[in-house]
Amino acid sequence: MKILVIGSGGREHAVAWRLAMEGHEIFSAPGNPGTAQVGKVFPSSDYLAIAQSIHPDLTVVGPEVPLAAGVVDQFRAAGFAIVGATQEMARLETSKIYSKQFMQRVGIPTARFARAESVAEALAALRVFQYPVVVKADGLAAGKGVIIAQHAAEAQAAVQLLGPRLIIEEFLQGEEVSFIVLCDGRDVVALEATQDHKRVGDGDTGPNTGGMGAYCDGRILSAKQIQQALDKVIAPAVAATNFTGFLYAGLMITADGPKTLEFNVRLGDPETQALMHRIDSDWADVLMRAAGGNLKNVSLQWKAEPSVCVVMAAYGYPGEVRSGDLITGLNQSTAQAFHAGTKTTERGTETSGGRVLGVTASGPDLRSAIANTYASVEKIHFDGMHYRRDIGAKGLKRWA
Ligand code: AMP
Ligand code: GLY
Repeated sequence: MKILVIGSGGREHAVAWRLAMEGHEIFSAPGNPGTAQVGKVFPSSDYLAIAQSIHPDLTVVGPEVPLAAGVVDQFRAAGFAIVGATQEMARLETSKIYSKQFMQRVGIPTARFARAESVAEALAALRVFQYPVVVKADGLAAGKGVIIAQHAAEAQAAVQLLGPRLIIEEFLQGEEVSFIVLCDGRDVVALEATQDHKRVGDGDTGPNTGGMGAYCDGRILSAKQIQQALDKVIAPAVAATNFTGFLYAGLMITADGPKTLEFNVRLGDPETQALMHRIDSDWADVLMRAAGGNLKNVSLQWKAEPSVCVVMAAYGYPGEVRSGDLITGLNQSTAQAFHAGTKTTERGTETSGGRVLGVTASGPDLRSAIANTYASVEKIHFDGMHYRRDIGAKGLKRWA
């Protein structure tokens, strides 16, 4: 099949890599030097025009921005098979106010919250919450629109910084898990649960990022927790929206069961890098079925070996990022180095974004998957690079 992958990050490189391994002809747009290793790149975001010139059998959308701009609606109107959420469904991700009200309306477990449309409303709302309290900007913020405030002065500063359209919500205690399902408008197939590491520093310290690393191990959620998440979170959301594409529930596994921190309407990044490394099904066939409304009775197979993805970030990330640092050692890495923020220049491969590479490997158990991944990370170098050294450590601790 001819498959078009929309997006230009590590997630898209991982999806394209996996589909190329199945023997498909891959096109990507806007693409990156990683997707260029596995197919033809169209460095443009005029996706419909690209589809009209190559006639893909299937298109898969990675990021939220084209989904929110209506790429799925446009492709369907033009008769192209595509996996993704419609513009309307994308509101579950693009507006936190919309998303929280949706959860409340259809009865999905989530943190208690108040919405605010002005700084004054937000400051009034803060009075009814205990500390720590969570302050969230309404719109898309690439993982940077959430502040967990420990005391009133910090909360007031967060309101000034992120406002005026805000969600203020109760702080939930628990393990955070990324639970992603593929939907065809009616039926749902669950991917393995993964765990992301959102803070920039070891031990979950420092500011939030888009995600500094993830691991995928069949034990992250128990069968009972998966069923709870499917019944209480996913089923009501899919039924209320006839959801198509990937629905990502960011769950907090609390003492009272899973609660939904957020919905995303796409695959996670870097969760996808770990997932694509582990999946053992005919992925293109499953995606084609999702695009065609034929997911009934589909289940996914996974390799027994856990996988780990460590994000190597550029100088300054998640703040102002420096680019143009030369990357060396890529060809000495035995892991898969998924490209996220790289560019090809006459010097070679250089950094061009915050999250530069997602180095991903597996192993017979989680400990060796972690060791294999870091052995490759240590072979790669660029000035100013930083990465977390504890990706997967939560799993090791839980299963010690
Ligand atoms: P979100 O974009 O809503 O997923 O928030 C980003 C990150 O902030 C999450 O991945 C959590 O680590 C943290 N977070 C968000 N909401 C809460 C909450 N209610 N309680 C505790 N942590 C939260
Ligand atoms: N890794 C978190 C996300 O993709 O939103």
